Amino acid sequence: ATLALQCSMCHGARGTASAGTNAPHLAGQPPSSTYKQLRDFKSGHRPSAVMQPLATNLSDQDMRDLAAFYSQQQRETLVGHAGIQVEVPRIVSNGSPMRNVGACATCHSPGVARVATPIIDGLPAAYIVDQLNAFKSGRRANDINQQMRNAVHGLTDQEIEVVAKYYASR
Ligand code: HEC
Ligand code: HEC
Repeated sequence: ATLALQCSMCHGARGTASAGTNAPHLAGQPPSSTYKQLRDFKSGHRPSAVMQPLATNLSDQDMRDLAAFYSQQQRETLVGHAGIQVEVPRIVSNGSPMRNVGACATCHSPGVARVATPIIDGLPAAYIVDQLNAFKSGRRANDINQQMRNAVHGLTDQEIEVVAKYYASR
C-alpha cells in the first residue's frame, strides 16, 4: 500500500481510476497480469511515455508487491456507471470464425482464470479503444503468442467501438 501511494494520483487510492481519465483500473486484476505489465513497461516491451519512467524505478519485489496489493482491492462502482445495459456483442460471445477472430469471452471472463490475462470489465471505453487499436497496428506487441493481435487484426473501427462500449458498461 505504501508503494501504491505514488500510483494513486492516476489509478485511484485503491486502484479504481476516476471517471474521465485515460488510466486503467488496477483493482481486482490478477497479480500475474499487473506484474507482467509492469515488467513490460520497465523493459520497454510495452511502450508508454507515462508508465515507462515510473516502472524503471521499481524492483522485481516492488512489482510483485504492487501486483498483490491491487489484486486484493475491489473495483469501486463509479458515479454514473451503474445501470447501463449494453447487449452482448456477437464478437464477445462467438468471435468471427470466418475471419479467424476468437471470442473475447473465452479469455476475458472474470470466471476464466488465464495467466497474465487482464479483466477488462469496467475499463474506460477510451482506454479499451486505444489498446485495441494499438494491438491492431502493432504499436502494442507485448502479448504472448500474439493472442491480442490475432484477436483484433480483423476487427473494424465500428466493432472496436461496440466491444469497448460493452466492456466499459460492465
Ligand atoms: C501520471 C499518471 C500515472 C501514474 C502516476 C501511474 N500510472 Fe500506471 N498507467 C497510467 C496510464 C495512462 C496507463 C495506460 C498506459 C498508457 O496509456 O501508456 C497506465 C497503465 C498501467 C498499467 C497497465 C494496466 C493494464 O490494464 O494493462 C499498470 C499495471 C500500471 N499502470 C501500474 C502503475 C503503478 C504500479 C504505478 C505506481 C508505481 C502507476 N501505474 C503510476 C498512468 C499512470
Ligand atoms: C486467446 C485469448 C484472448 C482473446 C480471444 C482475446 N484476448 Fe484480449 N487479451 C489477452 C491477453 C493475454 C491480454 C494481455 C496481453 C499482454 O500481455 O499485454 C489481453 C489484453 C487485452 C486488452 C488490454 C487490457 C489492458 O488492461 O490493457 C484489451 C482491451 C483486450 N484484451 C480486449 C479484448 C477483446 C475486445 C477481445 C475480443 C475481440 C479479446 N481481447 C480477445 C487474451 C485474449
